[in-house]
Amino acid sequence: MFRSGQGDAEMSLICLSDFEAYAKDHLPKATWEYYAAGADECCTRDDNLLAFKRIRLRPRMLRDVSVMDTRTTVLGTEISCPIGIAPTAFHCLAWPDGEMSTARAAESLNLCYVASTYSTCSVEEIVTAAPDGFRWFQLYVYRDRKLSEQLVHRVEALGFKALVLTVDVPYTGKRRSDIRNNFRLPPHLKVKNFEGVFEEHYGPDNYGVPANTLDPSISWKDVYWLRSLTRLPIIIKGILTKEDAELAVEHGVQGIIVSNHGGRQLDGELATIDALSEIVDAVQGRIEVYIDGGIRTGSDVLKALALGAKCVFIGRPIVWGLAYKGEEGVKGVLQILTEEFRLSMALSGCRNVSEINRNLVQFSKL
Ligand SMILES: Cc1cc2nc3c(=O)[nH]c(=O)nc-3n(C[C@H](O)[C@H](O)[C@H](O)COP(=O)(O)O)c2cc1C
Repeated sequence: MFRSGQGDAEMSLICLSDFEAYAKDHLPKATWEYYAAGADECCTRDDNLLAFKRIRLRPRMLRDVSVMDTRTTVLGTEISCPIGIAPTAFHCLAWPDGEMSTARAAESLNLCYVASTYSTCSVEEIVTAAPDGFRWFQLYVYRDRKLSEQLVHRVEALGFKALVLTVDVPYTGKRRSDIRNNFRLPPHLKVKNFEGVFEEHYGPDNYGVPANTLDPSISWKDVYWLRSLTRLPIIIKGILTKEDAELAVEHGVQGIIVSNHGGRQLDGELATIDALSEIVDAVQGRIEVYIDGGIRTGSDVLKALALGAKCVFIGRPIVWGLAYKGEEGVKGVLQILTEEFRLSMALSGCRNVSEINRNLVQFSKL
C-alpha cells in the first residue's frame, strides 16, 4: 500500500488504477487525454489490457516460497525486478520537474528507465538528477540525420547504457482527442533535448517539434547506420511479428521491445501479449525480448515473463504516479507493481524469476 505523506494522510493508493483515477481527476483535461489517447477507435490500446485478462495461470503448490528473489538482469546489468519505465514524452506536464523525478525514482529502486527523446528535461538534467541511475535512451530517426547522430553521441558520453530505436512511428498515429483539443505543449515547456535546434521555427507544430521532422523512409538499413555511430547496444522497440523479429536478429541488434506504442499508432494491430510468444520462439534466445503495453498488475508481469519476456516496461502508470506526487508517486507505482509481482510469484510457486516458465500460463477460451 502506498500512503501519501502530510496533507492528505487519509489517502491510500493500493493499485495502479487508483493512481489512474487520481490522475484523471487532477490533470487538466487535455493533458489527461494526451496521456490516455490511443489511435482511432482505441481498440488496440484497450486490447493490450484485455489480452492479459484472457490468459490464466497454472500455479504450483507446496514449493517453499518463504524466501523470494525478484532480481534479474537486462543486457548483463542487474536490476531489482523485471519492471522498467517505458519511454513516454512530456513528464513536466504531469509534475514540475518531470523526468528528473522519474529518474530519481528509478535510481532509488534500481530499475531501468528508458528516457524519451521527447523529454521536457534534457538528458543532461536527467543524469544530474540521478547520477547513478541505470538508463537507456529512446531514439527516433530524423530527416536531418545529424540530429539523431548528435543525440546518440550526447547520451553515449553521458553514460546511457543502450539505445532504444523506436520503429513504429514513420508517421504519428491519429489520436482523435489530441486533434479535438488542438493539443500543444504549453509555452513554458520545451522538448529540451532539442533546445537551440528548432528555435527559429514558426511553422506547423507536431507535439512540440516542427511537423515532418521524423524520417518516414527509415528502413532496416538504418540499423546499420545507427550501428556505425555507436558502440552502445541497440534495442528495437515496436516489433509485433516473428518476421520482423527474425530481421532484427539478422541486423545484429541486442534486444527487441514487443510494443504497439500503447495502442497509439496502428489501431487494430495485435495486443502485445498476444504477439509475444511467436517472437520469443523466433529469436530462440539469441537476443533478449522485452514487452510493454497494458501491464497494470503483478500477475500481468508474471504472465509476460512466463511467455518469455526478460523484462516488462510500463508507460502510462508512470505519468499517473508523477501526477500524484512526482518522485514519490512514481516510486509508489513501481513499488506496488513490484510487491504485486512478488506476491503473484509466491502464489504460483516461483521463488525467483528463473523458475517462471511457459507451463504457468494457459490461454482462456473466453
Ligand atoms: C503519453 C505517451 C507518450 C509516449 N511517448 C513515447 C515516446 O516518446 N517514445 C516512444 O518510443 N514511445 C512512447 N510512448 C509509448 C510507450 O513507450 C509505451 O510503448 C506504451 O506507453 C506502453 O503502454 P502502456 O502505456 O499501456 O504501459 C508513449 C506512450 C504514451 C502513453
